[in-house]
Amino acid sequence: MRYVVPFAYTVIFSLFGVYVLITKDGKPIPETSATLKETANHTKFINKPVDNSPSSLLLSKLYKKQDAEQLRSVKRLNNSDVFVSLNSEELPNVSAFGTNFSDPFWAQKLCRGTDIENCSAKFKQMETRLRYSSKYNMSACIVQKNMSTMLQAIMCYLFDEDKFIASGRSVGRESHHGKFCNRKNEVDSSDNSTKAVIKMRSLMKNWNLFAIVREPVDRFLSGFVDKCVRQPYNPKNGYCNGCASNMTCFIQSEYKRIITNSKKAIPSRNFEDRHFFPQSWRCNFETEFDRYKFIQYSSNPTFEDQFLSKLFKIFQKQGVPKQRIAYINDQLSGGRTVHSTVESEARKFFEERLLSSPFLLEYVFRMFYWDFQLFQFKLPSYGSDIPKDYF
Ligand SMILES: *[C@@H]1O[C@H](CO)[C@@H](O)[C@H](O)[C@H]1NC(C)=O
Ligand SMILES: *[C@@H]1O[C@H](CO)[C@@H](O)[C@H](O)[C@H]1NC(C)=O
Ligand SMILES: *[C@@H]1O[C@H](CO)[C@@H](O)[C@H](O)[C@H]1NC(C)=O
Ligand SMILES: *[C@@H]1O[C@H](CO)[C@@H](O)[C@H](O)[C@H]1NC(C)=O
Ligand SMILES: *[C@@H]1O[C@H](CO)[C@@H](O)[C@H](O)[C@H]1NC(C)=O
Ligand SMILES: *[C@@H]1O[C@H](CO)[C@@H](O)[C@H](O)[C@H]1NC(C)=O
Ligand SMILES: *[C@@H]1O[C@H](CO)[C@@H](O)[C@H](O)[C@H]1NC(C)=O
Ligand SMILES: *[C@@H]1O[C@H](CO)[C@@H](O)[C@H](O)[C@H]1NC(C)=O
Ligand SMILES: *[C@@H]1O[C@H](CO)[C@@H](O)[C@H](O)[C@H]1NC(C)=O
Repeated sequence: MRYVVPFAYTVIFSLFGVYVLITKDGKPIPETSATLKETANHTKFINKPVDNSPSSLLLSKLYKKQDAEQLRSVKRLNNSDVFVSLNSEELPNVSAFGTNFSDPFWAQKLCRGTDIENCSAKFKQMETRLRYSSKYNMSACIVQKNMSTMLQAIMCYLFDEDKFIASGRSVGRESHHGKFCNRKNEVDSSDNSTKAVIKMRSLMKNWNLFAIVREPVDRFLSGFVDKCVRQPYNPKNGYCNGCASNMTCFIQSEYKRIITNSKKAIPSRNFEDRHFFPQSWRCNFETEFDRYKFIQYSSNPTFEDQFLSKLFKIFQKQGVPKQRIAYINDQLSGGRTVHSTVESEARKFFEERLLSSPFLLEYVFRMFYWDFQLFQFKLPSYGSDIPKDYF
């Protein structure tokens, strides 16, 4: 399969020491003079940013920590004995909801009429995280996961390009911890009434707002492998709803959490919730949906071209200079030359298990019904009907 496991690239590069240094002496990357046209071929860029050498002791320590964690991760992801045995039970072949799986259109018929009770709520006031660039009158709403880390770094760069470069930072290496723009261009809120959000709303009245949205099944799988296999958040304390790496258990319990929270005014926000609750619950979409442009994203490389062109179209419209866009493009697509489609044993295993089980998929469709509808992702049929290049 052709999708790419987010961290796998970094891991492989860490293992073999194949860092691609953009400058030979670790100096900040100069602005490139490449035009957009010359760098237009951005195949397979996602999660494979240019990896620059650290320019300070602090950054060097930060990168070492990242690399060590990635080594530990690859071991867990490869440790199939553990996760296979936790998922060894045979899956039911009958719907938990009375759905007729023999009907080839069963997935398309979910959540209609009274069946909506067994699906997530459309909108919630869960969490809004904005990363903006006042200079270009634009703001991105980010939702946890890899692409948001990248977008956050890009918005940080566009907040103040010269300072960002001068500090020796690079888009590919900015992570949540120790990030350059910490609190500078950020508004985070758990509801729609905090001062910061209200202030931003009036400031951003004529701004260009956009959000990156991820294909729901791909997002679920990626989140599950990341949080329930690779790097448990609270390993001693029953992570992933006490299910550890048992996907059936996690899907059923997370479905229940989503349904329960669908009925609350303000949903809960524990670590897992923030990675698994619907994307439509974010960004104050209930009132701001019409103002947003959506950039769809999934592990499927076919998303990559439209992804970048949509993003750059927004940047161009907002007057971001060509060479700045070219720098971002270089950071995302240049540098690394190895195009291996590395995937972990874990992702392979769980993707196969989920996609071949209508029983499990039905829960996932019901959890993310509105993400499919609102962000215009096609609802796949199940099992062998799912095209191999679905993601
Ligand atoms: C871009 O890709 C196309 C088709 O894959 C190829 O024909 C073209 O030469 C490439 N351009 C560059 C600049 O690499
Ligand atoms: C993707 O996510 C993983 C896990 O959170 C992280 O280790 C990796 O550095 C991220 N990659 C990028 C490019 O953000
Ligand atoms: C993953 O496991 C396989 C065998 O199960 C082994 O050959 C391979 O070297 C392992 N890879 C890593 C990165 O640990
Ligand atoms: C479903 O499972 C039951 C028992 O687990 C089995 O008897 C039945 O043949 C299965 N039906 C199909 C259509 O696979
Ligand atoms: C389930 O769907 C199949 C195919 O559409 C149909 O032949 C069958 O009668 C349906 N079963 C029930 C119980 O409705
Ligand atoms: C579907 O929703 C109804 C009404 O809320 C509820 O009684 C039923 O248990 C739900 N079914 C499942 C499988 O969760
Ligand atoms: C941003 O908005 C301000 C005020 O509305 C306007 O004066 C300025 O030209 C805009 N800048 C861009 C790059 O659109
Ligand atoms: C804020 O959220 C509340 C409750 O979720 C809602 O009633 C209200 O309309 C929202 N206001 C705005 C401006 O979005
Ligand atoms: C995984 O969890 C499900 C649901 O709680 C349970 O029925 C199943 O037995 C568990 N699987 C294993 C192998 O423990």
